[in-house]
Parts: sequence; structure tokens; C-alpha cells
Amino acid sequence: MSKPEKAALMTRVVPYQREEPGSQPTLLYEPYRATIRRVPRNPLVVLPPTLSEVTGPVFGHEEVSDGDGDLTRQHSGEPLGERIVVSGRVLDGNGRPVPHTLVEIWQANAAGRYCHDRDDHPAPLDPNFSGAGRFLTDESGMYRFVTIKPGAYPWKNHSNAWRPAHIHFSLFGNAFATRLVTQMYFPGDPLFAFDPILQSIPDERARQRLIANFDLATTQPEWALGYQFDIVLRGRDATPFEDQRWP
Ligand SMILES: [Fe+2]
Repeated sequence: MSKPEKAALMTRVVPYQREEPGSQPTLLYEPYRATIRRVPRNPLVVLPPTLSEVTGPVFGHEEVSDGDGDLTRQHSGEPLGERIVVSGRVLDGNGRPVPHTLVEIWQANAAGRYCHDRDDHPAPLDPNFSGAGRFLTDESGMYRFVTIKPGAYPWKNHSNAWRPAHIHFSLFGNAFATRLVTQMYFPGDPLFAFDPILQSIPDERARQRLIANFDLATTQPEWALGYQFDIVLRGRDATPFEDQRWP
């Protein structure tokens, strides 16, 4: 690409909306102890949007197969626990669907144990559950996973600390600027008030955006409860970014 062509492209770069104040986790939230170590020591630098931020990786269809969204059929037997369907739409900051975008999830099993070397808490592993899946959204931005409701699990953040049941989500969207790693929670969990990861998001409405809705239309008779969880990449209604990768 010639310099004038690149310059012409740059003039068409449309910046993403900045997050609403309070809608994302506080970088330093002392009840969540790991933030004390991780908080940046210097003021953040706001980078002007360039092609690098508004364009990004595009994943082909070949590597994601139809069965990758069903976490209950990855082994010879069925996993133990409550089978659920988790479905929703991926939207951009203007409410438009984001088609053909990769949605990845990972989670603990029904007993609250991850199939991961770093998880050694005394709950059983399930030989029929690995806890990871992926899905490419369709034309209307829809995704759908079949899985097992994850259990709560203890972590060592503070005395008697337990994470509410949650599913981790990772999305790339259409550009680097829309990258999102977050967690979905289940409605009515009694652990919400005690979870410093959820509580590190100041805005109550933003916290609510991380809680899925039970949905009778998604529920399949005699088979699985259904939950709806829409995800918004950037903009006023953006889904809050999680402030950690583990647990
Ligand atoms: Fe987790």
C-alpha cells in the first residue's frame, strides 16, 4: 500500500466509543487482592485509534466445527451435573449484530473443579467434562452452547472466599479494540455480594450485564434449562471486561 493510500485509509478510521465511567472493573480494588499487585504504577496512556486497533484477526470457519459448542459430547459418556443451554447475541456498540465472530468459553465442572493443573481443590474431576468450547456466531450474531452448570469453588483471596458459579467468555470481535474477556454469572446467586471480582465494577447496571437471564424459550422441555446472555463489544452498553485470567 502506498503512503497516500494509507493516509487516505487512516482518515476513515472511526474511533470506538470509550467505556462509560464505572462500567469496567476498578484497576485497584483492594478487597480483590491480586489487583494490588497488578495495578499500573503509572497513569494510563490513551492511544489514538489507528488501523491496528480497528482491524484485527479474522478467524476462518474451517477450524471451528459445529460440535465445538456442545461441551456435553466431548467424551465417551455424559458429564455429571445440570445440563444447560447458554445462548445469546454478540452486538457492537451501536447494537448491530456481530456475525461470524469467535466466542470461546471455559468453566469448572458441576463440582466446581477445573480440568487444569493449577486447580487442586478437593472436589472431583469429571472424566467426561473438559470444560471448554467455542462457537462462531451466525448471521444475526447468535451463539449457542450446551454445557453443564458450573459449581461454585473456593479461592484464596480472603478467608472463606468462594466464587459465584460462572462461565468465562473470550471474544475477539472484528478488531483488536473489541477484544473482550469476561465472565457470565447465573441469576440469584447468593455469593454475588461476597465476590470482589464482580463487586470491583462500580456501576450496578454494568454488574447486572454480567448476569445471564433465565429464559423459558431457550429451555428445552425434559432436557435442559436455558439462559440468555447477550454480549456487547464496546460502547455505552459494553459488557464489562474481567480484571483477571484466573480463577
Ligand atoms: Fe473461574
